[in-house]
Amino acid sequence: MIRLGVNIDHVATVRQARRANEPDPVAAAVLALLGGADGITVHLREDRRHIQERDLRLLRPIVTNRLNLELACVPEILALACEVRPDECTLVPERREELTTEGGLDVVAHEATVRQAIAQLSAAGIEVSLFIDPDMVQIETSRRLGAKAVEVQTATYSEAKTPQQREAELEKLATAARVARQMGLHVHMGHGLNYYNVQAITAIPEVEELNIGHSIVSRAVLVGMERAVREMKLLLNRSTSARSH
Ligand code: PXP
Repeated sequence: MIRLGVNIDHVATVRQARRANEPDPVAAAVLALLGGADGITVHLREDRRHIQERDLRLLRPIVTNRLNLELACVPEILALACEVRPDECTLVPERREELTTEGGLDVVAHEATVRQAIAQLSAAGIEVSLFIDPDMVQIETSRRLGAKAVEVQTATYSEAKTPQQREAELEKLATAARVARQMGLHVHMGHGLNYYNVQAITAIPEVEELNIGHSIVSRAVLVGMERAVREMKLLLNRSTSARSH
């Protein structure tokens, strides 16, 4: 079974477009869970462009299976994470001018900061995952720094323009997953996954968790959150059962 973490950031994006109080991402989380989500993922950004501190605090007691907070290595957000205690924290890079997270966190270049963040979050009893590119040095460094998991970014795969590029990216992801698992890391993936490109990813045997936001929220706007999540879960389940036969 692959866990589906539903990222509800963009429900909050719609709310923040009007600085209003609807749609409420907390309501969206409840519906996503009813649709079969194995967890809820939110990214509390420094600029607070979508998820707010209030959302995170309300989600904590409501998401009883798995709350995953994506965050940058920023003291203020790290302290909040330690107070609210999501089940999992995924460290991501963050730039104010980006539309969405662009590429993985360079854990080699930021080794000292990442090591400190992992230590702080782990001491609060939170599992730490690092969002990285499918790169051997990044994986090895993640293990050495004490991460429990890596979330290998699938953005480059999702944006591939030709079948050859797509195959090459898929191969990189499969190799990264194998190496990470051999090192004892849990393997998560996400970014840019949708109803059409997800099945090739679910065929990678080491993948334990997928975090998917934009495509599910986009479908939810038209067909409702429960149905959008159920349809994604169906794709994940079908492929998992195909794999075991
Ligand atoms: N994983 C990480 C680390 C992310 O930063 C994001 C985007 O917030 C996602 C997964 C979900 O990406 P998408 O919205 O493209 O499905």
